[in-house]
Amino acid sequence: MAYDVPSIRRQFPILGKKVGKNTLCYLDSAATSQKPQCVIDAVMDFYANKNANVNRGVHALSEEATIAHDAARETVRAFLGAKHAYEIIFTKNATEAINLVARSFGDTLKSGDRIALSILEHHSNIVPWMQLSEGEGIGLDWLPMTDDGYIDVTATEIILKKGKTKLVAVSGLSNVLGTLQPLEKIIEMAHKHGAVVLVDASQLAAHETIDVQKLDCDFLAFSGHKTYAPTGIGVLFGKAELLKKMPPFLGGGDMIQTVTTHGFTPAELPRKFEAGTVAAADAAGLRAALNWMTELDMKAMQKHEASLLTHALTALQKIEGLRILGTTNPKKRIGCISFVIHGIHPHDLTDMMGAEGVCLRAGHHCTQPLHKLLDIPASTRLSVAAYNTVEEIDRCISSLQKAIFLLQK
Ligand SMILES: Cc1ncc(COP(=O)(O)O)c(C=O)c1O
Repeated sequence: MAYDVPSIRRQFPILGKKVGKNTLCYLDSAATSQKPQCVIDAVMDFYANKNANVNRGVHALSEEATIAHDAARETVRAFLGAKHAYEIIFTKNATEAINLVARSFGDTLKSGDRIALSILEHHSNIVPWMQLSEGEGIGLDWLPMTDDGYIDVTATEIILKKGKTKLVAVSGLSNVLGTLQPLEKIIEMAHKHGAVVLVDASQLAAHETIDVQKLDCDFLAFSGHKTYAPTGIGVLFGKAELLKKMPPFLGGGDMIQTVTTHGFTPAELPRKFEAGTVAAADAAGLRAALNWMTELDMKAMQKHEASLLTHALTALQKIEGLRILGTTNPKKRIGCISFVIHGIHPHDLTDMMGAEGVCLRAGHHCTQPLHKLLDIPASTRLSVAAYNTVEEIDRCISSLQKAIFLLQK
C-alpha cells in the first residue's frame, strides 16, 4: 500500500488546529509525538468500558481491565521482539525506566565498579548514573564522540578493556544529532568485557524497528509519548536473568507476594517492578499506538521521514550563518536536525516562529554535556514524524527566513 500522508494526517485531530489564522505546523515530535484518533479512542474506551484496578479485584470489570493490561504488555513484547512478556516492565516514562535500572541494578554493584556512558546522552541517561555514583564508590567513564556524532567505538574499547565497567548506558539515536549509534558493536564489545548494556531507545523507538533479542541488549527503555502513545506510560525491557536477580525499585502494593510485620517477599516478574496502581488506560493507549505504527509499514514511514529530512537539510544549508550540528549527510540522519544561527538566540527564533504556528524546539534539549562539547549554550531542533509533509518543511523554512530577517534588523 502506498504511503498516504493525507490519510495519515486525518487520523490526528490536533493537526487541524489553528494557531491564530495559521494551521499548526508541528515539527517537534522528538519532544513528544501527536496522537492518532485510535489511541485517543483506546484510552476513552478503557475509561468508558473497562476501568477498574488491575490485578487487585476478582470482579468482572477488574478481570477485563487486567486482560487489557496484559494485552498491552504482550503488544510491547512483540514490538520489541522480547522472548517473554514478563521481561516488559511498565514505567511512567523512559526516565523512570533508566532510574529503575540505576537504583536496582546499581544495588548489585560494589565499590570500584564503573558505569560507562556517552557524552551525547540525554540528562535522563546521565543524572541517574551520577546519583548512583554519589557516595557509593561507583565511578563514571564518559565515552567520547567522533566528529560526525557517533560514539567512538575505539575509545569505548579502551575503557572496557580495563575490566571495571559493569554497565554501558547509551542512546540508540541521538535526540540532537539524529545519528543512529553503533549499538551492535558496542553491545558485543561490552559483553566480551563483562559489562551489560542499557539502550536508551527514547528516540529510536519512533523511527526504527527494534529486536532486543537480535540486538542482544540487556536493558532497553523508551517512553510511550514519543511513539504516538499517551504520556504517563513508559517501558523497560530487561533480560529475565538480570531482572530476577535485581531487588525491587519502588515498594508498595502489587509488588509483593507477602508482607508480615517482619518484612516482605517480592512478587514475581513483572509485578516486582510495578509498585502501586498501574497506568492501565495509558497502557491501552500504548497498545493502540504500537499496533498503529506496526500497521503503518515502518519501511514506508522511514522512507517518507528520510525524504523530509533531506529536503530540510538542503534548504537549511542555503541559509547564511546557519550551522548544522553533526553530519550534513542526509543518509546518516534520522528524526531530527539541530542547528545554530550566528547572532540569533534559539529562543527568540522559536518564539517568533511559534507565533505563526510553526513548532520547533529551542534549548539544550537536555543534553548539556553535548552542547558544552559543541561549544554552544543552546540550539534549535526540527524533528519529523510519520504525519509531516514537504509543505510543512517549506513553511518552516520561509518562517525561519522571515524570523532571521526580523531578528537581524
Ligand atoms: C534520547 C532521550 N532519552 C530520554 C528522554 C527522556 O524521555 P522522558 O522525558 O519521556 O522520560 C528523551 C526525551 O526527550 C530523549 O530524547
